[in-house]
Amino acid sequence: MWISRQNIGQASQLLAQGEVVAFPTETVYGLGADARNEEAVAKIFKAKGRPGDNPLIVHLYDKNQVKLFTDQVPSKASQLMDAFWPGPLTIILNHTTGLAAQNVTAGQTTIGLRMPSHPVAIDLLKDSQIPLAAPSANTSGKPSPTSAQHVGHDLDGKIAGIVEGGETGVGLESTVIDLTDESVPTILRPGGVSKEELEDVIGYVDLADTLEDASDKPKAPGMKYRHYSPDKPVYIVKDNWEQTVIKLLKSNEKIGILASDKILSQFADKEIQSFSLGKEDDVQSASHLLYSGLRYFDDSPVTVILAQAFPKVGLGVAYMNRLEKAATDEK
Ligand code: TXA
Ligand code: MG
Repeated sequence: MWISRQNIGQASQLLAQGEVVAFPTETVYGLGADARNEEAVAKIFKAKGRPGDNPLIVHLYDKNQVKLFTDQVPSKASQLMDAFWPGPLTIILNHTTGLAAQNVTAGQTTIGLRMPSHPVAIDLLKDSQIPLAAPSANTSGKPSPTSAQHVGHDLDGKIAGIVEGGETGVGLESTVIDLTDESVPTILRPGGVSKEELEDVIGYVDLADTLEDASDKPKAPGMKYRHYSPDKPVYIVKDNWEQTVIKLLKSNEKIGILASDKILSQFADKEIQSFSLGKEDDVQSASHLLYSGLRYFDDSPVTVILAQAFPKVGLGVAYMNRLEKAATDEK
């Protein structure tokens, strides 16, 4: 069922009945269910085809709800909540007060908490009065959805409802920071809030090497899976565009380029498909459009996707992290 923002009560009703409902957040669309209801949460894993050992983030609309899940909130965690909530930051704390169903935490003793800033997400959390366990609303292994259409493409017929809310803002998932041990705050997944911004508030923050950490027990279980991956090969291109394109054209590849207009204009006379990441080289715009572009080419006849690299600073760290996960190789 497609649900408009005006009918948010319908979504609340479905959630109260133990159903799953997709909804927009400022990062990507989430697939929500009552975090206290194990059967409802199981439906999330089933709809996405998500491995059961990958825990879910719980979404809140009020800081007072934190105590339902933990009585251990270190002062650095409070400082970050004050600075960045509502917003694209997930904080991992010890799950001490145990309200969440056991499949939310996937057997871990910790829990990820986040307060989204999207007005429709806030509306839904308030109207339903239900803390929502919600991963990104994509089929496992696909890029996260940044529009209601993306959600429909992956999950229509498998879930009870999709709340429409247009395109999401940031376009990449939230930053996940582990504060279970306050002495070593660690970014498990770079995202909408940068390392620099976090350090302005709490001092030094470690960045886990999430690309390398493919062990059986990585700190953020989700990071061991080859996420965000379209079916076509993706190559990251830094500055040798001309050379790369000519070489691929010679070997009869059908090329799709994901880059700024500035770069795309160089190939206007060539047989290529293009998807713009923005007018200029702008990492904010590129992040907003990245998943949409990957999905666009995945459903098109191109045989190879070339994507523009950005410097690894600020939001560029998150953008490159997602791109490197989608890519097979650098060219
Ligand atoms: O922006 C976002 O965070 C979106 C929107 C919908 O809120 N959600 C999202 O959820 O991206 P998901 O499930 O696709 O990614 C959550 C990541 C996974 O890598 C998961 O392993 C990690 O956070 N995570 C969740 N709970 C954790 C925990 N207790 N300990 C360590 N990592 C955790
Ligand atoms: Mg996800």
